[in-house]
Amino acid sequence: MELDKVIKLRHSVRQFSNKEVKMKDILACLGAARLAPSACNSQPTHFVILNDKEIKEDFANTVFSGRFLPCRFFKNAPVLVAVCVKQNANLTVKAGQKIAGRPFYITDHAIATEHFVLKATELGLGTCWVGWFSSQKAQEFLKTPKDVEVHTVIALGYPKEKLKPTKHTRKDIKEIYSLNAYK
Ligand SMILES: Cc1cc2nc3c(=O)[nH]c(=O)nc-3n(C[C@H](O)[C@H](O)[C@H](O)COP(=O)(O)O)c2cc1C
Repeated sequence: MELDKVIKLRHSVRQFSNKEVKMKDILACLGAARLAPSACNSQPTHFVILNDKEIKEDFANTVFSGRFLPCRFFKNAPVLVAVCVKQNANLTVKAGQKIAGRPFYITDHAIATEHFVLKATELGLGTCWVGWFSSQKAQEFLKTPKDVEVHTVIALGYPKEKLKPTKHTRKDIKEIYSLNAYK
């Protein structure tokens, strides 16, 4: 499928069918994520695939609690993917982030996550980036090392209604760029 078509087809899916997501398709998404660029090629992103129903539901009940309860419905997604990222994945990026005074790892994780999501779209899978969850509880649940943050959860599964190009509510293209100076 052409990239343009995949980009237009992707939209957030919040209702899924019960159809099983095959591990070979998840591996194809991981293969796309693996090729994402990262600062100093530090590859700080790690995907925890939660496809065991009981573990996935325990995870969802834990991370979508308290003020994050509105996203509890994502426990119905056949698969949840906890996207974890290491703060200083190699010495070069550690030095680079310190000198630049800003983290690169969040950008790195976002690129890898979007690669994952776009590949899933190409395979007919529905996805939703989920940010409204407790990172702290996700980290405790997954027993991640101290320097590893859980930044995003991807809800993954076959959409209840087949993916089709939808109208994206977006700013006009003229509003998102300027030439040679800021606005
Ligand atoms: C970083 C990030 C966090 C998001 N968090 C949530 C979330 O917690 N719950 C949710 O329902 N959608 C979430 N979304 C999905 C956005 O609401 C959605 O991408 C946006 O409204 C544009 O719609 P579209 O994805 O259908 O094009 C998130 C998206 C991103 C990129």
